[in-house]
Amino acid sequence: MTEISIRPATDADVPTITAIYNDAVANTVAVWNDEIVDEDNRRAWLRGYRLPGTCALVAEADDGAVLGYATYGEFRHYDGFRHTVENSIYVDGTRRAGGVGTALMQALIEHARRNGKHVMVAAIEGGNTASIRLHTKLGFEGCGTIRQVGTKFDRWLDMTLMQLML
Ligand SMILES: CC(C)(COP(=O)(O)OP(=O)(O)OC[C@H]1O[C@@H](n2cnc3c(N)ncnc32)[C@H](O)[C@@H]1OP(=O)(O)O)[C@@H](O)C(=O)NCCC(=O)NCCS
Repeated sequence: MTEISIRPATDADVPTITAIYNDAVANTVAVWNDEIVDEDNRRAWLRGYRLPGTCALVAEADDGAVLGYATYGEFRHYDGFRHTVENSIYVDGTRRAGGVGTALMQALIEHARRNGKHVMVAAIEGGNTASIRLHTKLGFEGCGTIRQVGTKFDRWLDMTLMQLML
């Protein structure tokens, strides 16, 4: 069984993060973007998660392979939302259902608590059973589903909102 350690994401992780992200773009409705990106795009994206009140973590196997990443950052761009964050999590397609997502999310939640945040929100595609189970297992509660607010692969997508009181 692979030991998994969780640590802050660095620029050295950008190639793997880019590959994991692009796989999710091309093959899933987890992320509602249509275009794959290059490493410069993810390097700039990662810079945004070095700002105060944000976090980007990776899960690393004992052989050094990066298995997935998770972030939290601003929920909505208004002052009153400053104690609330929105998360995001992606695990390598070949390493899912092996506990990586759970380990990443536990560390992310702990980081947000230490960072003084009050609520973590997850916006999940309504049919994403794995993500809904992951969040439910970690104490998130469903807040409702907004129907057909997204589209990808020529179909409408529902957004299920979940929240964790930190
Ligand atoms: C969602 C995701 C992050 C979960 O990570 P993971 O490493 O596979 O999750 P874990 O192995 O820690 O499993 C967490 C829980 O989800 C369940 N689960 C995992 N994959 C599942 C699947 N395909 N179907 C149903 N349940 C699943 C596990 O059984 C586990 O629950 P349990 O402990 O009660 O058995 C991962 O599947 C992924 O990266 N998916 C593509 C991107 C994505 O959907 N990101 C989330 C966007 S909101």
